[in-house]
Amino acid sequence: MEKRWWKEAIAYQVYPLSFKDSNGDGIGDLRGIIDKLDYIKDLGVNLLWLSPVYCSPMKDNGYDISDYYNVDPRFGTNEELDELIEKAKERGIKILMDLVINHCSDSHPWFKEALKDPEGKYGKYFIFKKGKDGKEPSNWRSIFGGSAWEKVEGTDYYYLHMFCKGQPDFNWNNKELRFKLYEIMNHWLEKGIGGFRVDAITHIKKDPNYPSVPVDGPDGFGEAAKYALNYTGIGDFLSEMRDETTSKYDAMMVAEAPGVPKEDFGEFVGNNGYFSMMFDFSYLYPSFELKAPWHKIKPFTTDQFKEALFASQEAMQKADAWQAPYLENHDLPRSVSRYIPCEDLNRQSASALATILLLLRGTPFIYQGQEIGMTNCSMKSVKEYDDISTLDYYQRAIADGFSEEESLEVCYDFSRDNSRTPMQWDDSISAGFSDSEKPWLKMNPNYKEINVESQQDDKNSLLSFYKELISFRKGKFKDVFVYGDFETFMTNEKNLFAYKRILDKDVLFVLVNFQNEEKEVVLPSEVKEIVFSNSGRNELSDTIQMKGYEAIVLRGQNQ
Ligand code: NOJ
Ligand code: CA
Repeated sequence: MEKRWWKEAIAYQVYPLSFKDSNGDGIGDLRGIIDKLDYIKDLGVNLLWLSPVYCSPMKDNGYDISDYYNVDPRFGTNEELDELIEKAKERGIKILMDLVINHCSDSHPWFKEALKDPEGKYGKYFIFKKGKDGKEPSNWRSIFGGSAWEKVEGTDYYYLHMFCKGQPDFNWNNKELRFKLYEIMNHWLEKGIGGFRVDAITHIKKDPNYPSVPVDGPDGFGEAAKYALNYTGIGDFLSEMRDETTSKYDAMMVAEAPGVPKEDFGEFVGNNGYFSMMFDFSYLYPSFELKAPWHKIKPFTTDQFKEALFASQEAMQKADAWQAPYLENHDLPRSVSRYIPCEDLNRQSASALATILLLLRGTPFIYQGQEIGMTNCSMKSVKEYDDISTLDYYQRAIADGFSEEESLEVCYDFSRDNSRTPMQWDDSISAGFSDSEKPWLKMNPNYKEINVESQQDDKNSLLSFYKELISFRKGKFKDVFVYGDFETFMTNEKNLFAYKRILDKDVLFVLVNFQNEEKEVVLPSEVKEIVFSNSGRNELSDTIQMKGYEAIVLRGQNQ
């Protein structure tokens, strides 16, 4: 397999708003991140995905960019960003900038010009259509609720926004626009960053007729994915983008690519794919259809999760493709709250989950706070939520007849704010995140128990476990974990995650008993020794009694 630096990386995502506030205004900032670089380095990661820090009206927390070349004053200055890139580099860490190029902000100068003249030069950078019979051009629902079309006052035109109305979609059919975007990318690449995390990229191509779809909710709109997600011909844009940007540098792109079926993995992230790697959505909610609103998603079992996760690994491998395994980011609830029943939640179960994730095939991504076991945060009222998507889903649940209490419960299970509450550094007011007593988003009240300081010097803490596990992945078996094959075994054993990583004669068996009950496991005969454990096990016999949430790695030898 082709060796690339980014295959060997381990990534950590920072959500700047919530990582560390250095000046007491309640908002995380670049200086705060710089101050915590040693913490990040100490974890053992070497790639840092920075969620957007560009100028933005923050309707979608920075995923609505009004200036791609400048840092938002909330976060600091361009000089501080250069300093961050430099100081990270000194510590062997490469920065991944977030690249939001399906849409920009309605405050971007291009869009302001476009509104003045939808048929003019800048109008062609966006998607303007005339209404039909006094209504929107089609009945597409925006991902954040309501129509995906917004009327331009005083004209017959509507503009398309697949996300909120402050996020107008670019018209990727316009070559001039595309090359403006590549210029932005090259500007950042010139600074020596590692590359980009590419936002919502499978939305950039739409059916040119924008056809209406069957209505699927009480709001009278329909889900547009069929005509607006991974749409035929998107590859021409993506390969052009790659050739004009990252392929000229030794840089990577990890794509947020919802709607890419397994058959397309090779095309997207195979050897000559559009991207270096992608986040696969298929295992997040094993019963999840992109179409289903949160409140209609069915619960899933551990075995369904396992099957979906392993199927994703197998499909990537079969396509010679590379993925970025992850369980958390700023759009998802906390993984320990999602995959572990609350009565089982402790260091043991959280370390079992970490083991499952970090030894998979691909470049693993960890989200800030995951390493200390931060959990979902329950809000007492919908007023405590900030996220535009949570507010919409709350309303949709209410409209579908759920009570306020039920709707809040749905938010607890799915809200993006679960992972956006500020990072818990210590047990002081605002958890050491900020000197302000009122951070921009409520603190999770459990910060007194769950925080970095209390785990830092404790050899048995989850934080210490993450460090050990990361260093294990990077240690003497590194090549096996990075370049080795993935193969499942004991697939029918309930609640047992069992996979092998194989490179030439080396085989590592990863075994995780993902349940509270003990489990008897007959070990494969090739097993030679135990090389990693989350429970201090150091002796082996042919049959072992695995403890609840025990995770072990065994070394074997291929025949
Ligand atoms: C995906 C980002 O991760 C999410 O936070 C954002 O709301 C949408 N894309 C729109 O940019
Ligand atoms: Ca600040």
